[in-house]
Amino acid sequence: MIGLFGGTFDPFHNAHRALAKHAVEQLGLEQLIVMPVGRAPHKERRTSFACYRYEMARLGTTGLEHVVVSDDEIRTPGVDYTYHTVKRLKENLGDRLQHLISGSDVLLSIDSWYRPDALLKEVDLAVALRGDADRRMLEGQRQAIEEKYGCRVVFFDMPKMNLSATEIRESLEDKGKSQDTCPLEVESFLTQYRPYDFAFEFESMDDDQWQTLLDIEEWAWDFHPQERRLHAASVAQYAARLAAIYGEDIELAALSGLVHDVAKNLPQEERQHLAEAYFDMYPTEKERLGTCITKELAHGPASAMLVWNESGVRSEKLSEAIALHSSASADMSRFSEILFLADKVAYDRKFDRLDDIRELAESGDMYGAMRLCLIEVLDALGRNNERPCPLTLDASRDYNVI
Ligand SMILES: [Fe+2]
Ligand SMILES: [Fe+2]
Repeated sequence: MIGLFGGTFDPFHNAHRALAKHAVEQLGLEQLIVMPVGRAPHKERRTSFACYRYEMARLGTTGLEHVVVSDDEIRTPGVDYTYHTVKRLKENLGDRLQHLISGSDVLLSIDSWYRPDALLKEVDLAVALRGDADRRMLEGQRQAIEEKYGCRVVFFDMPKMNLSATEIRESLEDKGKSQDTCPLEVESFLTQYRPYDFAFEFESMDDDQWQTLLDIEEWAWDFHPQERRLHAASVAQYAARLAAIYGEDIELAALSGLVHDVAKNLPQEERQHLAEAYFDMYPTEKERLGTCITKELAHGPASAMLVWNESGVRSEKLSEAIALHSSASADMSRFSEILFLADKVAYDRKFDRLDDIRELAESGDMYGAMRLCLIEVLDALGRNNERPCPLTLDASRDYNVI
């Protein structure tokens, strides 16, 4: 018997973990599929990047037996309706998928779901009763649902917990802490990645712009392993912050972060081919740019080309920034400087000069930040016995590093 437990998990907190654990134990599930929603049908608020919510669900269920986290809804284009997800899962699982697991609020909200009658013909509802629940009232609601839809609703117990994702996010925004409301692994993720620390930059975008970003994240999903998705989202956040400080296009900056490494995990030959196609677009610059087509640096121009060809977003400014994000160059545009820096000092990074570079960048001293960042890049190359490429040397002269 398999259960499905969906949610935004923004963030994944202790009540989510307790619900998953008690569902498995009390319903005797062979498997519980935890499913972070890709695009929620009810848009009460904007959800965070999918890779963050997916990561928190993975971290938050660490050590729970029979629990798996699925990115099925995240990878599926468009709005995710539970009915469609259940039908899709049942193609493989058949009737072993038996329970839709939820908190008791579902008893009041199920009528407003997409096709509840069809959904409840496919699966039973398994509803968590918290220690402080009003059992008589919920029993009444249970009977009403069973009668209305001709379905089965079962209860299972979980401890009393009053946690609200909204309050946790607010506490993280205000105090930088979630006050022990999330599993330990999620806490340390939140401390490092600070997904709710960018409200100012993100709220300056309208809903359509935010949607474009989520669409682009979805487009890039399969190009990236999970670690790189987190890096991309982290760079997107930091690039948006710098764009806000320097008066650049915040949406385009965030977008550049999401896609800047999109070709990095392609097979070497494909990456090389894309990089060459990019250089072909700039015949006069080809010789200079082509000097940087070494194995590692080819992923910049290759990503630029892939975005240009396949993402539906075409912008010269974006292309140039992506192409140069790894090497830098002389005469970089402000926008390209922003992506270069965000890539090096986003919250997923750890190295000694990080805070100094962030401080310079956030105080408005772009030249100082670029200069210090290039010093770090040259030092890092030196530590690995690697030589800087000609473009990086051009940049180093331009910012008076050498
Ligand atoms: Fe990169
Ligand atoms: Fe990167």
